[in-house]
Amino acid sequence: MNDKSLQEADDARYGATTLIRRLVAEQGLTHWRKYLLAFILMAIAAGCTAFSAYLIGDVINQAYVNKNLPGIVFLGGMTVILFAAKGVATYGQSVVLSQIGNRIVADNQRAVFAKLLTEGLKFYSDRHSTEFIARLSTGAAAATQVINLLITAFGRDLLSLVGLITVMVVQDPLMSFFSFVVAPPAFLVLRKLIRRVYKVARTQFQGSTLVLETLQETLQGIRIVKAFTLEGIMRERFDRQVAAVEHEANKMARLQSRASPLMETLGGCAIAIAITYGGYRVIDTGATPGQFFSFITAFLLAYEPAKRLARLNIELNSGLVGVRILFEVIDSPPSEALDLDKPALQIKSARLEFNDVQFGYRGEQAVLRGMSFVAEPGKLTALVGPSGGGKSTIFNLIMRFYEPDRGKVIIDEQDIAQVSRKSLREHIAYVGQDVFLFRGTIRENIAFGKPGASEDEIVAAAKAAYAHDFIQSFPRGYDTPVGEHGLQLSGGQRQRVAIARALIRNAPIILLDEATAALDSESELQVREAMDRLCQGRTTLAIAHRLHTVAHADRIFVVEQGCVVESGRHDDLLRQEGRYALFCRLQLQQEEPRAAVAELAPP
Ligand SMILES: Nc1ncnc2c1ncn2[C@@H]1O[C@H](COP(=O)(O)OP(=O)(O)O)[C@@H](O)[C@H]1O
Ligand SMILES: [Mg+2]
Repeated sequence: MNDKSLQEADDARYGATTLIRRLVAEQGLTHWRKYLLAFILMAIAAGCTAFSAYLIGDVINQAYVNKNLPGIVFLGGMTVILFAAKGVATYGQSVVLSQIGNRIVADNQRAVFAKLLTEGLKFYSDRHSTEFIARLSTGAAAATQVINLLITAFGRDLLSLVGLITVMVVQDPLMSFFSFVVAPPAFLVLRKLIRRVYKVARTQFQGSTLVLETLQETLQGIRIVKAFTLEGIMRERFDRQVAAVEHEANKMARLQSRASPLMETLGGCAIAIAITYGGYRVIDTGATPGQFFSFITAFLLAYEPAKRLARLNIELNSGLVGVRILFEVIDSPPSEALDLDKPALQIKSARLEFNDVQFGYRGEQAVLRGMSFVAEPGKLTALVGPSGGGKSTIFNLIMRFYEPDRGKVIIDEQDIAQVSRKSLREHIAYVGQDVFLFRGTIRENIAFGKPGASEDEIVAAAKAAYAHDFIQSFPRGYDTPVGEHGLQLSGGQRQRVAIARALIRNAPIILLDEATAALDSESELQVREAMDRLCQGRTTLAIAHRLHTVAHADRIFVVEQGCVVESGRHDDLLRQEGRYALFCRLQLQQEEPRAAVAELAPP
């Protein structure tokens, strides 16, 4: 299918009527009892309005024709009751509608969030994170907006209109007919506007997403922005995107209001016809003035709901853009569907093997080419090599963030593709280079490694990670807030909290991705001691940038361009005088030029 027909198929799937039908069926009908209540309340309010228009006729006749004061007082009392009843009904109706609306928003937010959690990493690396924020907020709110629009249109406006038109027809059928001749031209013009509204609303949404993206990036990268004095560039970007949204918003406002001049003029014509004809009836044919006033009152009251109904389609269409955005998220097949039906991974000794694995993130471009190696149970296996060689990709495949194109990843004779992701990941503790702490306390962050962990377990893990002492030194101890807000820990401290989080998991397989690369030498020493404890007796795979941190590894694999090019122990590899020896020398030169020169010099 080409782009155009895809677009058309999409448009058919998310056409206005389909969207509305689905919205009502999936999100509206579950609340039908409350909607019915709202509907009844709206009917009461509409009845009150129509009846008060009818009463005006009596008032006029009692005052000007019969000159009956008690009758007028009675009618005045009736009017108060009618308006009070209308007020109460309107109150009840708007509270009920808001309650259902808020529930629908909440349900949709839950649905979208749950959906996002079923997506794989590829899904996220293809998109900007703010796109989800925009979809979550716009989509969830739009569903409510559209449903309420429909309910109020049919409940409040249509019922009022029917009531008022009834009054008009009762008072004067012929005059009613004349007043309605203006309706057909109004509808014809409105229909034309609708298509354009839909288009503009979509552009507007995309524009607002861009604004959010820039905002979020600037906030997250505020250090870089300031350090590189990028304020001007960021402001320009932001200005441009905000201006584009402003432009679209103005376009929308013009479109939405374009109906007004026409509607008002036509309304004026209808009133003029009614007044002229009504006046003629009273003056020339002796009709009662009450009838005439009642008619005019009903007509004027009918004017607002009629106008709203005429505009309904326009507002509906701009709301439907949001609904479509919502359904697009909910409908897209999950990229990492739950596979709980697969058997759980059975760990015996935790031997991990890559068997001729081929993998690329983007189709043809292979990142791993025939990768084969074994991480022996209970041993420390190191992966080293130039950056971009594919080391982190190996971890991505072990955790099944991605699936190999060819070959297998095997743990204890089980192909990990054949076991459930949940069971696989439960047996792995991962510590990466960028430590991510969640908003919350240090205690909560450690406990994320093992939900439901006891206080003793948390403290034990922190002690083993050499984190206990510095945590205790904070005034609030384990209750110290971390994450985006609150106290920011140093790099080494964060790393040790992350190690505690991994330790408490008590997993048989440990993955360390350059876990000490961001640390200074002093904290590195402490972190390394913590890590040595973490790894004891477990199958550990460590990616290391600084080679001396893995010099004691049981086996080292040198990974270059997606293949293992050398393997062995540190000393063996040095003796081989191959790639590893070369890296070692280069690194030594960088870190301690003098020592390197001394070592390289012939004895
Ligand atoms: N999410 C991704 N999408 C596309 N390409 C990626 C992704 N992650 C890494 N790559 C590419 O895969 C190659 C190997 O990356 P990586 O495994 O991170 O290397 P290393 O960890 O050895 O430095 C690099 O060329 C990199 O550009
Ligand atoms: Mg890496």
